[in-house]
Amino acid sequence: MSKVNIAIFASGEGTNALQIISKQKKYNYIVKIIVTNNPNSGVIDIARDNGIFHIVIKDEDIIPFLEKSDIKLIALAGYLKKIPKDIINNFLVLNIHPSLLPKYGGKGMYGMNVHERVLENNEEYSGITIHVVNNEYDKGEILMQQKIPVLKTDTPFSLQKRLKILEHSHYPFFIHLKSLDLNGSGTDNFYL
Ligand code: GRF
Repeated sequence: MSKVNIAIFASGEGTNALQIISKQKKYNYIVKIIVTNNPNSGVIDIARDNGIFHIVIKDEDIIPFLEKSDIKLIALAGYLKKIPKDIINNFLVLNIHPSLLPKYGGKGMYGMNVHERVLENNEEYSGITIHVVNNEYDKGEILMQQKIPVLKTDTPFSLQKRLKILEHSHYPFFIHLKSLDLNGSGTDNFYL
């Protein structure tokens, strides 16, 4: 079965990017391009270590790169720049967010800000959301959510840590399932 070519866009540490890359051997996608807007992002070393083509962008048009590599899916993994309309209209773009959207999403809701607000509001649960990216921050169709209880002892750091563990297993697996759909294999095969 042919694998689906994907791109990862990331701005930060890159722990999700690393997990997606690490699992590409057993899953149905292959990471062809890594895009970052941050010259200090951890994904640059991750891309180098794994021999994956990467670009640090300012305002360049990256569509030609995506087309050249026949990219079918773009996975945002902590990418802090708005995705241009041209990309949204021509590619399937997914994002992972560290809260139960629509709660704690939108502009400014990233990193520790999310977990601090969740704790301030004494939420019983937090979680992760995988959604389609559209023109508004964190507003696209929700495809998957997984919730966990917020512990009395949680700090923003401990909550982030526990949620990242969830992200690291769910995001690569979800991209795998989407890749099966994209190359027409359907997710039914997964259960065989
Ligand atoms: C993750 O928490 C993800 O949910 C959010 O950005 C963070 C990226 O973390 N969109 P990392 O750079 O993958 O460690």
